[in-house]
Amino acid sequence: MQDDMGLVGLSGKVAIVTGAGMGMGSATARLLARRGASVIVCDINEVAAHATCDAIRTETGVAEIVLCDVAQEDQVEALVERTVKIFGRLDCAVNNAVVSPDNRPIAEADMAMFDKVLSVDLRSVMLCMKYEIRQMLAQQSSGSIVNVGSVSSVRPQPNNAAYVAAKHGVIGMTRTGSLEYAPKGIRVNAVLPGAIDTPMLRGALETSGFTEADFAPALSRFGRFGRPEEVAEASAWLCSDAASYVTGHSLAVEGGYLTR
Ligand SMILES: NC(=O)c1ccc[n+]([C@@H]2O[C@H](COP(=O)([O-])OP(=O)(O)OC[C@H]3O[C@@H](n4cnc5c(N)ncnc54)[C@H](O)[C@@H]3O)[C@@H](O)[C@H]2O)c1
Repeated sequence: MQDDMGLVGLSGKVAIVTGAGMGMGSATARLLARRGASVIVCDINEVAAHATCDAIRTETGVAEIVLCDVAQEDQVEALVERTVKIFGRLDCAVNNAVVSPDNRPIAEADMAMFDKVLSVDLRSVMLCMKYEIRQMLAQQSSGSIVNVGSVSSVRPQPNNAAYVAAKHGVIGMTRTGSLEYAPKGIRVNAVLPGAIDTPMLRGALETSGFTEADFAPALSRFGRFGRPEEVAEASAWLCSDAASYVTGHSLAVEGGYLTR
């Protein structure tokens, strides 16, 4: 794909996006491909992964699918191995996959669900970073990792303790990784989406019986939900060489929700 975007472009780079079948992951995979990256579309959902991969190829981008449950260490290790086998290297990763929380107060917590949310929304980020960074170190090249947190990484919300804990942890691991690997030229940052119009958010609305008009004014200064593409722009910039002096940062893309 032609890349005339200078430092913001991703031409020649290889990127993994986890949870790339839907929502923000899909928008991110598509944008990285449009910016010139060769993209590994990673998801647990085969149908969704094919939809994203087909969309990228229709736009003349380069993408391959690797099916993977990011909560399983052997599968994450294999994800990075397959990436290198297919595209020869790894330069960027957006660790984005998520399972939705079950919206119960702490006294009603289902501990099996708590463990699952921690496993997919937090432990997976550790697993992905572990194997992504190993590969970047082996290449002796610079690299960029973007972990997808949430406004819940910095502001709790009721009835979501597992998700809030996981997302707070994502920032802690991001900042730790940034300190450990800056000397090796590997940058580790986070994006913190606000209310973004994805299948996850639509599912939450359906469960609650509320609409965008009920919620959006309280969740965004713009009075609307964000678009997945608006978060993808932040991740693409952090992946690119344009962000070469940025690490350990949490970039909120939340329509001003966190501003008080
Ligand atoms: N949508 C929002 O309003 C919002 C707000 C804040 C943060 N976020 C964060 O943004 C990221 C993307 O959210 P989204 O709304 O696009 O989610 P989504 O539910 O729309 O899509 C999540 C994707 O992850 C995949 N996935 C689920 N479990 C997986 C696993 N074990 N292994 C691999 N893939 C798996 C799903 O198949 C799906 O394609 C998440 O980290 C989420 O916490 C979303």
